[in-house]
Amino acid sequence: MYPKLIIDLKKYYHNLNKMIEMTRLNELSLAVVSKVFLAEQPFIDVINKTTVEYLADSHLSNLKKMKTNKKKMFLRIAQLSEVEEVVEVANISLQSELTTIKALNKAAKNNNKVHEIILMFDLGDLREGIYYEDSYLKLVEEILTFNNIKLLGIGTNLTCYGGVIPSLEILKRLEVIKSTIETKFKLKLTLISGGNSSSIFLLEKGKLPKFINNLRIGEALVLGRETAYGNKIKGFYDDVFLLKASIVEIKKKPSLPDGETGMDAFGKKVIIKDQGKQRRAILAIGKQSVDKDDLITLDKSEIIGASSDHLIIDIKDQDYQIGDVLTFKLRYGGVLSLMTSPYVRKSYEK
Ligand SMILES: Cc1ncc(COP(=O)(O)O)c(C=O)c1O
Repeated sequence: MYPKLIIDLKKYYHNLNKMIEMTRLNELSLAVVSKVFLAEQPFIDVINKTTVEYLADSHLSNLKKMKTNKKKMFLRIAQLSEVEEVVEVANISLQSELTTIKALNKAAKNNNKVHEIILMFDLGDLREGIYYEDSYLKLVEEILTFNNIKLLGIGTNLTCYGGVIPSLEILKRLEVIKSTIETKFKLKLTLISGGNSSSIFLLEKGKLPKFINNLRIGEALVLGRETAYGNKIKGFYDDVFLLKASIVEIKKKPSLPDGETGMDAFGKKVIIKDQGKQRRAILAIGKQSVDKDDLITLDKSEIIGASSDHLIIDIKDQDYQIGDVLTFKLRYGGVLSLMTSPYVRKSYEK
């Protein structure tokens, strides 16, 4: 039955081992980000076979369900309403707000635990973290008074919102923060978690600054690409995930709608270019499961459009029949949404 995601765990294992090699050469520990595959246990079993140190996820439910001996890292800044659960399921969390860290301290105390945090700094990408130009020493001073919180280290996340590339100049901002904290409080920060898949281009060139000793990696492992420039990583597979969807209709039709046009099914004004007559196939998958722009065709077909349950493609002169199954590679958003969709079957190839 289709649509179906074909998930090749051998290819994931291959990519993961390559990434472990790369990080070890640079004396980095690795946090594997599991949210893109919903922390499903077949992936976790693969990760459990390796020397990876941390499993990181932005959903507490994912951290809770995974069966692993690896340390668990909560990636998204915690809500005040979930601090008890954070302390219960995560060994480490990324934090940026004193109010929340105070609440975590209390929750950890109630549970007789010491919870480790990574204090996040925003180096200019404008997502989470203390803005690098702002003062942070008072905050650190206060954190150090908490008995049930351990300041494990500092971290940053780049490129995800503002597209800022982790250049050496940008990362220098984190190095200044590290040495300022270490000098002022006469301590050594254990973990400097310096980025995600957008730092890999530096790693590949052997240029990742030495003060960084940890990366949190998700996308590169499933799509085999770094995310600063979108380049393929040498020796990595880009098809751990493939989508298969079947054709339910093939008809030759004009490319331009015939009649006065208003809005489409999603309230958007319809703007379509006239490309003459097309051999149009409809596939049984739609926007409810995946954005058409996150699909990559592997043949001569061109994706024309989609509604919630239909994907419309121009199959050109290819000899397809009703019931034929087309295969697509995926972009990051496609893997995320297809894995999350209850309408898509998953087939794990071991
Ligand atoms: C804080 C944080 N770190 C790391 C990652 C992993 O990013 P990427 O998938 O680009 O490696 C994410 C996103 O999933 C994140 O939110």
